Amino acid sequence: MKEQNLEKWKIPLYRIYTDDEDVQSIAKIIKRGSNWALGPEIEEFENELCSKINADYCCVMNSGTSSLHAALLANNIQKNTEVIVPSFSFIATANSVLFVGAKPIFADIERHNFGLDPVSVAKKISPKTTAIIPMDYAGAACDIFEITKIAQDNKIKVIEDAAESLGSSINGRKIGSVSETTIFSFCGNKVLTTGEGGAVATQSKEVYEKLKLIRSHGRVDTVNYFSNPDEASYLSVGYNWRISSITAALGLSQLRKLDFLISKRKNNAEYISKRIKRFPIEVPDPKYGSEHTYQFYTIKLQDKKTRDELQKFLLGKSILCKVYFNPIHMTEFYKKQSESNNDSLPVTTEISEKILTLPMFPNMTLEEMDYMIESIAGFFETKN
Ligand SMILES: Cc1ncc(COP(=O)(O)O)c(C=O)c1O
Repeated sequence: MKEQNLEKWKIPLYRIYTDDEDVQSIAKIIKRGSNWALGPEIEEFENELCSKINADYCCVMNSGTSSLHAALLANNIQKNTEVIVPSFSFIATANSVLFVGAKPIFADIERHNFGLDPVSVAKKISPKTTAIIPMDYAGAACDIFEITKIAQDNKIKVIEDAAESLGSSINGRKIGSVSETTIFSFCGNKVLTTGEGGAVATQSKEVYEKLKLIRSHGRVDTVNYFSNPDEASYLSVGYNWRISSITAALGLSQLRKLDFLISKRKNNAEYISKRIKRFPIEVPDPKYGSEHTYQFYTIKLQDKKTRDELQKFLLGKSILCKVYFNPIHMTEFYKKQSESNNDSLPVTTEISEKILTLPMFPNMTLEEMDYMIESIAGFFETKN
């Protein structure tokens, strides 16, 4: 990728909020010249994450995808079983099921929060089902209590994919404290970012102990591996999904600003929503007790034609906007998978045809927001 491409857009989809504290936190580790791996910052990051989201345990990983993979392994999801997932998600949600040799079964979503629909989930349960992976879209919780109830009634696991929803809550409970296992992503566009990174939060000591083995070669790390002569014990097969001390230090620095970053997003979302509501647009509207963190700011248009025209118009104004998400089961790869992936998912299809994700980031300027709002107004004027 050529560097100038990064600044190609007048308004990019996101811009990272960073400050001197971020720089100093990293510089400190670099300057110490030791423990760039397995440093104390990793556990510190995990402990502060636990406090922030009221989880019992957190295990940080090098991506949201490895977190999902590790969460499935730690929950003992076996091959040739079935796992219910949304098709309206990032492809990693479904891929993680394939990683462990199981089969993703796509269920439909609800209109109000774009999360898995409990009614559709219940219909997809079979004797082979071992887990459900509900996804919290864009910073708003799905109907996690209903989904958890279905899982409990059927004695199957819930692995909540909250890659996009760190800091969000539902009925006053933080995402990460509700499900037994929840994953987060710290990839570049997320509310908290370390460039790449992720975490698994869990309320189960057993899952947590397994996660630590999976993350690091199945090795029991009671002492620092790199600064002790003792031979370690290896108890299971494992990967290297660790994050570096540098990444953890950046994560800590970002985490300490999380509330501020979310409040900036909320203010921006409110400003934009108030001004574009007069057009035939449905703006994100967190109801049903969920607190929205606006990792994405996704609007819904009347139909696909208007959505496609608006996207083209805004791109022409140098405003980057994207469709998050097109259905996973309609990708080339998943279309080739087995017949169950070709079921019709009417709400998923409808939503993905009508939505458009607009730029949203904490330090979006008033000028940028006004330019975007005026451009949207300009589009609807051309239609009259
Ligand atoms: C819903 C969802 N699940 C999983 C992931 C994967 O996270 P990562 O990109 O950190 O691997 C993402 C991230 O983009 C996501 O949005």
